[in-house]
Amino acid sequence: MKKTILLTGATGYIGSHTWCTLIEAGYNVIGLDNLCNSAVGVVDRISQITGSSLNFIEGDVRDKILVDAIFSRNKIDAVIHFAALKAVGDSVATPLAYYDTNLNGLLNICSTMASHAVKTLVFSSSATVYGEPESIPIKENAPLKATNPYGQTKLMSEQMLRDLEHADNEWRVAYLRYFNPVGAHESGLIGESPLGIPNNLMPYVAQVAVGKLEKLRVYGGDYPTRDGTGVRDYIHVMDLAEGHVSALSHLLNRNASNSSSFTINLGSGQGISVLEVIHAYEKASGRPIPYEIVARRPGDVPAYFADPSLAATILAWHATRGIDAICADSWRWQSMNPDGIIDT
Ligand code: NAD
Ligand code: WQD
Repeated sequence: MKKTILLTGATGYIGSHTWCTLIEAGYNVIGLDNLCNSAVGVVDRISQITGSSLNFIEGDVRDKILVDAIFSRNKIDAVIHFAALKAVGDSVATPLAYYDTNLNGLLNICSTMASHAVKTLVFSSSATVYGEPESIPIKENAPLKATNPYGQTKLMSEQMLRDLEHADNEWRVAYLRYFNPVGAHESGLIGESPLGIPNNLMPYVAQVAVGKLEKLRVYGGDYPTRDGTGVRDYIHVMDLAEGHVSALSHLLNRNASNSSSFTINLGSGQGISVLEVIHAYEKASGRPIPYEIVARRPGDVPAYFADPSLAATILAWHATRGIDAICADSWRWQSMNPDGIIDT
């Protein structure tokens, strides 16, 4: 009997790629998204990729009546909860919007799950809960500290879920802390399409390559790193999607002796610098990436990458796509969809 998964934030960047992987792994999926940061056209693209008709519901994870109706009308076995606001800078400017969506959204999902006796959850956390790391690579037992409201919502979400587990030991939660998701599906049909000017490096570089933006500003060239620019752990979004499906099946396999809750880093374990990203993208696209080294961006840390060994131990999962594949897939998506996905 196929298991049914409620996928929130389903038309978003990571959610859409995970939706494809879930279908290919044989799951029934109900996708829920309020489209505040994605386009409904993504649903047709996923249908093209998977050859499946999709069950998509436009709606808000904070809508108690809607979420309860979804659980009443479907036998849901687990939830993968992506729906959230995720831009660090925006969270500083509009913290209440972040606390509302990220905390009230999770609260409504979990209370509705509990009322329907569904207690298996894959939670979308972030390496941002580590704040400025004391040492790298970063392990899951590193000190946790938020340096912005967005990171605070992830830290508080994790605490809410741990308190829930303590109160009811039937809950099984996978806390997945992602580093820097990048890249796109190999078809070029879905990928990252941020609204407005991208804050993150990879989509910005992609838009310089395709000619939408003039040049990249490299934030800092004097960091204590191998070439002076910031080092990060870039993980291909398809590796991330596969990590979610592995975590889900691990949780659902409850009769396995080790199917308890777990917290893992989803990262490649490799640190790549900004200049190395630029060179890899030029190689993948055949386009020059003009750049200028400017002042450091406030809040940035020099280097940040995962120790992914626990994910390998618990899930037998590791990232398989390196920076060259990331840039090649990103370029295919960007060059095929210079303006992102236009709603049909
Ligand atoms: P995204 O913005 O592309 O996807 C989030 C989706 O959630 C969007 O489609 C948006 O429309 C939807 N959404 C937002 N508020 C909603 C609400 N109230 N009800 C229903 N849908 C709502 O972002 P993403 O990069 O795919 O991130 C997915 C998850 O991964 C988020 O929880 C984010 O915090 C986390 N994460 C992202 C990154 C990253 O760099 N992309 C890194 C670490 C963790
Ligand atoms: C990467 C590197 C920049 C843009 C963020 C969030 C984090 C998580 C992932 C949600 C850094 C440099 C960037 C540019 C640049 N999101 N850079 N020029 O800051 O590591 O992480 O996204 O959970 O919470 O903080 O990612 O892509 O912004 O920066 O030089 O125009 O690229 O300084 O070294 P970051 P990023």
